[in-house]
Amino acid sequence: MQTEMIRLDPENPGVDGIEKAAGLIKAGELVVFPTETVYGLGASALDPGAVEKIYRAKGRPQDNPLIVHVSSLEMAGECTVQDLGRYSSILDVLWPGPVTLIFKKSEAIPACVTAGLDSVGLRFPSHPVALRLIEAAGVPIAAPSANISGRPSPTSEEHVIEDMNGRVGGIILAGDTIFGLESTIVDLSREKPTLLRPGPVDAERLGELLPGLEIPGFVRARDEYRGEALSPGLKYRHYSPEIPLILIEGSPGNVVSRAGILARRDKSVVLCSQELADYYPVHVKKVVLGSRNDLYAVASGLFKALRDRDNLNYTQIISEPFPETGIGLAIMNRLRKAAWRIDRV
Ligand code: TXA
Ligand code: MG
Repeated sequence: MQTEMIRLDPENPGVDGIEKAAGLIKAGELVVFPTETVYGLGASALDPGAVEKIYRAKGRPQDNPLIVHVSSLEMAGECTVQDLGRYSSILDVLWPGPVTLIFKKSEAIPACVTAGLDSVGLRFPSHPVALRLIEAAGVPIAAPSANISGRPSPTSEEHVIEDMNGRVGGIILAGDTIFGLESTIVDLSREKPTLLRPGPVDAERLGELLPGLEIPGFVRARDEYRGEALSPGLKYRHYSPEIPLILIEGSPGNVVSRAGILARRDKSVVLCSQELADYYPVHVKKVVLGSRNDLYAVASGLFKALRDRDNLNYTQIISEPFPETGIGLAIMNRLRKAAWRIDRV
């Protein structure tokens, strides 16, 4: 398939490019577009034939539902039977922004979008390109992250070209995404608000907005969630780099010493903080993700580091742990899922 490359200014996208991309969506084609979290692989959420193409292009299991992206509260209201007015004080704070909220779905959303669930994940993104595209298409856009299933989500132009060129109608190229990690997901379709996936809006902030917010154990665990299918995506392998990733968890001294031992046998890349970078052996390749005091910077470079083609010149990636405060909870959630092994020291 011939993929049209559409270059747009992320802050101030030109009308012609937006119209071209919206035309593809209206014609039932797939369009890769940037959001403030990661790039998405979009199709009209109201067109089952187009939604089907998303699963094929990604190689995504059919039982893993898609998030529906909207450009207004009115559009969100059409996708759910719940009264969004009841949530206005939360929505005023969180939307538009990097938070997906799960509500009971309405008839308007076809079953293939939600993989048969009676709920739908709604996201009102703040990225100007995403907003303009949804507005111009005039329909909600179903979009998972635009990676081949199992790989880390794409945060750069290079990533989306690598994974999606030749598989989709169009790719919007608009630079790096801002947060570099997928949206926070909160389930509001059940009795108790529940955090399903940590993300850029952190658990501390959400807890203030949603008293009684449940944070299930699987948010901090590496293991697959094996209970009731709260969020089907939780049971699949995610974010895997092309060489094994070993996450070390423990105090800084123990982490550095364990990394030294692991790096003796294998040609290693170490993902680390600025603070500890100098303490690792000289013969390893150090990728400094940022300061432990600036976890937003660490988050924004994480998937780039996991997807770096240069990793193929090494036999393993070793990662330091990061503090689980703020966006750090999301960083550790992704690292644990990406890890081939976790060494606790
Ligand atoms: O930041 C993001 O959320 C990006 C951008 C493109 O918006 N999208 C994204 O989509 O990360 P995806 O498909 O890669 O991850 C969505 C997750 C999956 O784990 C899926 O199982 C879960 O959301 N999900 C979707 N609808 C759900 C529902 N109705 N109930 C529970 N979980 C749901
Ligand atoms: Mg994904």
